[in-house]
Amino acid sequence: MYQRFRVLSKSLLLISLLLNMPDCVFADDMGQPISAKEAASRLGVGINLGNMLDAPNEGDWGVRFENDYARIIRSAGFQHVRLPVRWSAHAEKTTPFRIDPVFVARVKTVMAVCHKHDLRVVLNIHHYEEMHADPEKETARFLAIWRQLSELFAAQPDTVYFEVLNEPHDKLTTMEWNEILPAALEIIRKKHPHRPVIVGGGNWNSPDELTHLKLPAEDQMLIATVHYYRPHEFTHQGAEFLGDKAPPAGRKFPFDLKENTIIQEDFQRVAEWSVKNQRPIYVGEFGCYHIASGEDRLRWTRTVAGLCKQYGFTSAYWEFCSGFGAWDPERREWRKEIRDAILKP
Ligand code: BGC
Repeated sequence: MYQRFRVLSKSLLLISLLLNMPDCVFADDMGQPISAKEAASRLGVGINLGNMLDAPNEGDWGVRFENDYARIIRSAGFQHVRLPVRWSAHAEKTTPFRIDPVFVARVKTVMAVCHKHDLRVVLNIHHYEEMHADPEKETARFLAIWRQLSELFAAQPDTVYFEVLNEPHDKLTTMEWNEILPAALEIIRKKHPHRPVIVGGGNWNSPDELTHLKLPAEDQMLIATVHYYRPHEFTHQGAEFLGDKAPPAGRKFPFDLKENTIIQEDFQRVAEWSVKNQRPIYVGEFGCYHIASGEDRLRWTRTVAGLCKQYGFTSAYWEFCSGFGAWDPERREWRKEIRDAILKP
């Protein structure tokens, strides 16, 4: 009881500090004053267009972007889409590491359809396996990809945000990442001085890695990101894509009395970091695989979406219409309870 009271009073204090994060004012490409905090809040609640352009080739994982998706997503009330893209599967392996122009055109088409439906777009580099496995060898190619993306997307409106790299992990620890990140930002900032840029730490954008992440102090248009899937034994139960590593199905949520408190404390630590470092937070992925029982899945989704809302963290559900999907591609309709748990927790 006392523990719960302590967590509650601490979180109320944090929320008031987060609301009072000073607005460092910048001008965006349209000449409008905007701060990173404001840019983050304009994202509102979003959804990931996952397993589409981040598959080795669009369609390989059973889903493709359809133009109607943008309308469906916007009219449900989502304000942005996160667009995961596996650029590394479409760029040459040797210098000059040229990105396939046909693939670039496809990504631009998807973005244009999203803009038409008034959705902001978070464009990232996703599933860059070679970079996580051998950062030393791969950094030149990674930077060459950003050099090209900066040029190719220079004319995009200020409703497009860049995310430097999805989920650094394996050999790409936060320490390694801290060494590489400034070079990537320098490239991006040449053409995009005011564009909001999203950056997370290692261990798959773990909330615990924020404290090790070094964001260049002079860059005030950065938004820090974390991904939230805890407890993994619950959210990833029965997930075939994990093979032998998939936790067994049947895990409930909450599993015991402590689980809610653990989640709440995770969010509180992220909020503390945000206040201390004066950086807004984007929970760029959270979600539960479809194998969990419906009621538990809703409870977990409401808990996490509710905490994002409570702390004023902007967020994006993982994902639209695949294994974690909030929309059923066969019936072509929303799984309404999941949609509402995300949008109205
Ligand atoms: C990965 C997806 C995976 C999801 C949940 C994402 O970052 O890109 O492939 O399904 O996390 O594990």
